[in-house]
Formats: sequence, structure tokens, C-alpha cells
Amino acid sequence: MSGVFAISEKILTKHLEVGGQTLLAGEVKVSGAKNSALVLLAATLLTKELVKIENVPELTDIDVMSELLSASGAKIFREKNHISVQTNQLSTKPLPDKLVHALRASFVCIGPLLARNGEVKMPLPGGCQIGKRPVDLHVKALSALGAHVEVNNGIVHAKVINKNRQLIGANIKFNFQSVGATETIIMAASLAKGETIIKNAAQEPEIQDLANMLNSMGAKIHGAGTSTITIHGVSKLHGCEYSVIPDRIEAGTFLIAAAITRSPLFIYPIIPNHLDALISKLNECGCSTTILNNGIKIIPSKIKSVNISTSPFPGFPTDLQAPFMALMSTAEGTSIFKENIFEDRMKHVNELKKMGANIDLIDEKTAIVKGVNKLHGGTVLGSDLRSAAAMVLAGLFAEGTSHIEGLHHLDRGYEKFEDKLVSVGARLTRYFSGRNAQPLKSQCQETNSQSSPFEPEVA
Ligand code: UD1
Repeated sequence: MSGVFAISEKILTKHLEVGGQTLLAGEVKVSGAKNSALVLLAATLLTKELVKIENVPELTDIDVMSELLSASGAKIFREKNHISVQTNQLSTKPLPDKLVHALRASFVCIGPLLARNGEVKMPLPGGCQIGKRPVDLHVKALSALGAHVEVNNGIVHAKVINKNRQLIGANIKFNFQSVGATETIIMAASLAKGETIIKNAAQEPEIQDLANMLNSMGAKIHGAGTSTITIHGVSKLHGCEYSVIPDRIEAGTFLIAAAITRSPLFIYPIIPNHLDALISKLNECGCSTTILNNGIKIIPSKIKSVNISTSPFPGFPTDLQAPFMALMSTAEGTSIFKENIFEDRMKHVNELKKMGANIDLIDEKTAIVKGVNKLHGGTVLGSDLRSAAAMVLAGLFAEGTSHIEGLHHLDRGYEKFEDKLVSVGARLTRYFSGRNAQPLKSQCQETNSQSSPFEPEVA
């Protein structure tokens, strides 16, 4: 496996140069959903049999998860967007700190490892620095299923203490909806004895994707996609072939790219109802959208301000808050942004201000954005995955050239982001520090570049 190596290579990336005042045109193909693929890979640990997963995006987060599976005893075959995993024998060694710290989603491995082995030691996770992100809900719910869980020196040690070392179904009510905790418990309960009912479960499409794959492996899960999920535990799961759903956050990012550049784009494939909250905000702010076949066509006109308040699915996704704030920085009027999921997800505000945005941060979770006619290029930092994408979008609109740092965040979650943008007309060049000091133009740049002079259509 080359995942850790891949990560250190990406950290050498210095910045992305983004040409401003760009018009885009054409169509963008959306990759498989990162957040689904990560948890589906973890779910492969629930069976000894071969699981083949298609449409897995090539991302550094997926590299890390693949390495975690290897460290857990899995044999992995990977070719482009296809990953096959078989885990005859689980390893009993604690998972390496370095991998778990690199990826918060790695923590969901605790569910399958505990369900299959009866015992697991996991370091506390890492991931984007967007708040405290504790794992107390995962831990409490695993305890409810009969595990004894201790956290000492940053290591979670969970052990099933009954004679058969088998988790026991239970009624679990989360005090708020957590995607990760819901996924952990669905996986753990799939091999538990008896019935588990999760109340106030997260309803995200990625939860439905997990339940669909597990059901095709022989699990008995009902209600995924609603706030009450029932899992009848089975004694074993078998292999399957499964394809990951399209990435709604990636699709959303490209829809916002169209809006901020005032350009028409066709984005496909999508599952329209996964994007309802975003589409409704895009329509409200002045974009016309049409669902065509398996995709969506967006035609922006004059962009007006709308308010954004993030909430669990089907509400407006926190993962699109930063890109949408970049858009609203260029709109006519004033918008209020409320971030209700994470307590520290406003770091992009200062970076957007460096480019000329007029934003007041009222508190950690509230920003008031007054749209401006112009942003200007600058050197800015994407401090987490989605704010890095937001900075690239702001750079496409800005006058002049921008330099976006923090690209290792971008590479965690957007497959071929630059190539896709360049194929519809963006001018992007990636620069490396250290021994890779040469600029790297995206593969499509020479053939497809089609920048245009641009008058922003805003007040
Ligand atoms: C997942 C997504 C992430 C998205 C988020 C919310 C993956 C890999 N990541 O993250 O892109 O932004 O859902 O849609 O799927 N919390 C606790 N205790 C817990 C668990 C969570 O307090 O045990 C809190 C978190 O700190 C956060 C909130 O609950 O404030 C929501 O977190 P959660 O839904 O669990 O997000 P993730 O699964 O980490």
C-alpha cells in the first residue's frame, strides 16, 4: 500500500494558482461519495467473504482507510475506482495511531472490529479541525450493546464481556443526530444478538447507502433514511458487489462553482433528492436548475443574497456552508450564515476577507455576509477540506490570480478536482515545494482551457 507515502507527497504541495474572472461551460462528472465509500470500506470488515466495491473515489482519505483495513488484517485489491476487500482473519493488534489520527472516519471501524472480534483497541480519531468532534455517542451506544468501554491515554478499549463475546441488541436514543455514531451502531448491531432500535438516527444518504450494502450482505436493517432504524442482528454476513452513490457534496460544490462564476454547467450523475436543500437555495438566490436524465443543469443569473442555516439531512449540509459563503460574498444584499453542526467551522471567513469579502463574524457560529462587486486575488489558506474548495471557488470569481494553500485538505475529499474544473474552463496550476518544485498543470489544461473576459453580474 502506498497511502501514507501518498499523504506525505501531497503535503509537499505548496499551492494552487487559480486564474480569476473565469467563465465555465460544459459538463462535470461527479465521483462516488467519499463519506459513503469510507464507511462501506469499514463495513467490509464485518465478513470473511470478498466484498467488491465500485465507484470508490481516488482520494487520500480512501488511501488511509485502505491502510487501516490492511492493518486490521484485510487483503485489498485496488484498481482505479474499484476496491475488493477480503478479511479472513482480523488482526488483534491496536490500529496504528498515525492512520487513525489522519482520518476521523476511521473511528467507525470500531463497530465492525468489535462485532467480529469481541474486543478492539482504537486510538481516538483525527480529521478536519472543525471543532471538538468527540466520540462519546459512539462509545455510549456501544456500551448499551453490552461492550465495556474504557478510554485511557487517547486509546479506546472496547470489550464484549459476556460468555459468547457477542454484542446484544438494545434500544438506543441519541440526544442528537450523529452520522458517524449512527453508522458505528448500524454496523455493530448487524452482528449482535437480537434487535437494536436506533431513535433519532442520522438520516443522511450515506446512512442509506451503508444499510443498502449491508442488506445485500445479508443484514436485516429497516428504516435507514428515517430517524428510527431497526436492525435485527444476524449470525454472519456474506460478500457482495456494490457501487457507491454519487457524491452530493462534490456535486453541490460544482453547482456553486457554476453560480459563483455565473456560468451554465451540467453536473452528473446525481440523486436529485440528495441535493434538495442546496437546489432550493440556489433557486432562491437566482439560479435556474433543471433535472435532466441523471444530472442537473444550472443556469445562474443575477445572484441575490439568501440566508443559510446548516442542519442534519435533509437540511442544508454543513459541508457546503463554506462554498456557499464564497458565493454569497459575491451576491447582491446581505446574508446571515448560521453553522449549527460544528462549533469551529468559520475559519474561511478570514480568508474570504483577505480577498475583499465583507463578512462580520458575530460569534463562532454566526456570520453576516454583505455581498461585494469584486473580490481580488490573494494568497489564502484552505484550513479544512470544504473551506479549501471554497477558496478555489472564490479565486475563480476574483480579479487577478489567487494562490490557495492547504491543498492536502482538498486532496482528502475531491477526486481530480482540478482536472474537472479545468475541463470546463478554469485556469489552475499546482505548485510543489521541496524536491517537486515544478508547477504541475492539470492534465486537461492545454486542450480544454477556455477562459473568458468576465463582468460579474452583481450589485
Ligand atoms: C460526517 C461527515 C462530515 C459531515 C458530518 C455532518 C463523514 C466521514 N463525515 O462527520 O463530512 O460534515 O457528518 O454532516 O461521513 N458529535 C458528538 N459526539 C459524538 C459524535 C458526534 O458530540 O460521539 C458531534 C460532533 O462534534 C458534531 C456533530 O455531533 O458537532 C455532528 O457530527 P457527526 O454527524 O457525527 O459527523 P461525522 O460523522 O464526524
